[in-house]
Amino acid sequence: MVSASVKKRIAVIPGDGIGVDVTAEAMKVLCAVAAATGRTLELVEFDYGAERYLRDGTTLPPDAPEMFRREFDAILVGALGDPRVPSMKHAADILLGLRFQLDLYVNARPVVLFDPKTCPLKNRTPAEVNFIVFRENTEGLYVGLGGQFKRGTPDEVAIQEDVNTRKGVERIIRYAFEYARRHRLTRVCMSDKSNVLTYGHDLWQRVFAEMQREYPDIEATHMYVDALAMQLVLHPERFQVIVTCNMFGDILSDLGAALAGGLGLAPSGNINPEGISMFEPVHGSAPKYAGKNVANPLAAVLSAAMMLETIGWPDEAALVRRAVCEAVLQDKTTQDLGGSLGTREVGDWLADYVTRHAPRQSVTS
Ligand code: NAD
Ligand code: IPM
Ligand code: MN
Repeated sequence: MVSASVKKRIAVIPGDGIGVDVTAEAMKVLCAVAAATGRTLELVEFDYGAERYLRDGTTLPPDAPEMFRREFDAILVGALGDPRVPSMKHAADILLGLRFQLDLYVNARPVVLFDPKTCPLKNRTPAEVNFIVFRENTEGLYVGLGGQFKRGTPDEVAIQEDVNTRKGVERIIRYAFEYARRHRLTRVCMSDKSNVLTYGHDLWQRVFAEMQREYPDIEATHMYVDALAMQLVLHPERFQVIVTCNMFGDILSDLGAALAGGLGLAPSGNINPEGISMFEPVHGSAPKYAGKNVANPLAAVLSAAMMLETIGWPDEAALVRRAVCEAVLQDKTTQDLGGSLGTREVGDWLADYVTRHAPRQSVTS
């Protein structure tokens, strides 16, 4: 029975390039699933992105993180990046700003193959390509500490610091183990480059060694990131949960996306387990496809599904995922996946699917 539900409010930042195109479809599907299941969802759009930055200099207003935390249940983002802003100043302020200021320390990037035909590897089944990358999301090389000296001269020095804290490393590794336990998974692989990064990644080694003792039910393995990149291509079936630092997680999640069918299918959640979280496709703004009705909206829609799960609507999330899976199986997809539909037509198909397949609503309450 569907009972009268609490309204959820979502802040939406479509951003730049194809972010705008795919977010429109994610919103379309969200509205359809809410209407079909009797839920109330309010989507409020924010125009943060290159256009706004070029117009009035605004990137992320200083009060935005607190406003999101206070007034919204989650944040949905498209993508940020525009060739007119080569410094990526606005993207760094908005994306990294929200990740850091809202302490979204878990970047969850699932790799799920719906149909063997979208896997670039030979003879791989969905059961064999099914893992999740937990990327540390608040420190590492991303903190922007460092500097340049004698810039533009032959004597230039450029330093970019890699920040790893005990607290930061501990909480992401613990999250990975807890996730494995919660989902009855048996393997967690921590990946680093501790053979070279003998300070920062030595910390990862020690924390991982300590923590695995608390999870005797889980097989804890370690792999250097270069070896892991190779193993993910050769033997994706060996992996269930991967936990790694910010930079390696960024790279491995694009590799993972490729294994499942490309960036057009890869969702992510920037999660603060105790607070508001932010969801976005793994892909960027692909400027050359912007506004052409060709971008694949499935990564954005799957990100919206992750969001539904996090705000406490798991059945609606499952319905949206089922719609995406069916779209892939039935070739109701864009060209990157071999289909012949446009961005909007894929969104229409998904919206129609969730409308037709939603459980009947009860008339009571
Ligand atoms: P990108 O992910 O935007 O695109 C790379 C290629 O992947 C595209 O040329 C396209 O072939 C394919 N692709 C990506 N998403 C697709 C989709 N939905 N449908 C179909 N094909 C898709 O990466 P890039 O070209 O390296 O970066 C473009 C801009 O986006 C840069 O400014 C970059 O900094 C930014 N970026 C932003 C994010 C983010 O907002 N989270 C992520 C990555 C890159
Ligand atoms: C991602 C992107 C971002 C990152 C960029 C645009 C800052 O590549 O979300 O994967 O490196 O985290
Ligand atoms: Mn990336």
